[in-house]
Amino acid sequence: MCPPAHFDVAYAINPWMDPAKPVDPALALAQWEDLRAVHRSLGHTVEELAPVRGLPDMVFTANGATVVDGRVFGARFAHPEREPEAEAHLQWFAAHGFGHLHVPVHINEGEGDFAVTASYVLAGRGFRTNPLAHGEAQEFFGRPVIGLELIDPRYYHLDLALAVLDDAADEVAYYPPAFSPGSREVLRRLFPHALVADDEDAAVFGLNAVSDGLHVVLPQAAAGLTAALRERGFEPVGVDLGELLKGGGAVKCCTQELRD
Ligand code: ARG
Repeated sequence: MCPPAHFDVAYAINPWMDPAKPVDPALALAQWEDLRAVHRSLGHTVEELAPVRGLPDMVFTANGATVVDGRVFGARFAHPEREPEAEAHLQWFAAHGFGHLHVPVHINEGEGDFAVTASYVLAGRGFRTNPLAHGEAQEFFGRPVIGLELIDPRYYHLDLALAVLDDAADEVAYYPPAFSPGSREVLRRLFPHALVADDEDAAVFGLNAVSDGLHVVLPQAAAGLTAALRERGFEPVGVDLGELLKGGGAVKCCTQELRD
């Protein structure tokens, strides 16, 4: 995680961002600290990346890399405003003993567009990540990468439209209208028992969640999804990241998972 010390909506690179709407920096920080406290209370070890002035989106660490089996597939951002974040992530990994680092050839926004289940790496494309990065990731991880086409600009990253609930059991939740018809069909075939989210849950970023297989940390406004998760035996933990939503991200965006 990276504290939102320099968080701001200074430019608009997704439909949720409106530079005319002021951000409350103290509230953003307090909400982020709440999320960190929730992770810690659930036994999730939190490492921190130092914020860099001039990189207002750095709080969304999920976009900075994808780590599977301790192997780090670096990011390459689609927008120049975020480009320098990739290097900050790689430096952190190099300094923390991660030996297998890959500097990507193709544009990919880390876990914003890569989700990891037991059997697959699911990979979004359509807005940010170049489809060629899917093959590059497959070669690096040695895991099958399943490409999924995103079609709704509000859900410009895979992690806004799909959440991995149990990476040991291939259990996911997703919002079908965010995907092309063919990709919807792929998801239906691969995950016939998936939890299907509705418009309301998707619009409050309910799918931008982090699960450890039991606890699912998600935006508290996602009432329907919270109830459905409980029914499936998960323990949903709601948090309010209202200020960070103004940047177009929530729980998952603020949490990069170190799968070592
Ligand atoms: N403002 C950021 C962007 O548009 C938000 C990133 C949200 N992160 C995510 N994992 N979906 O790039």
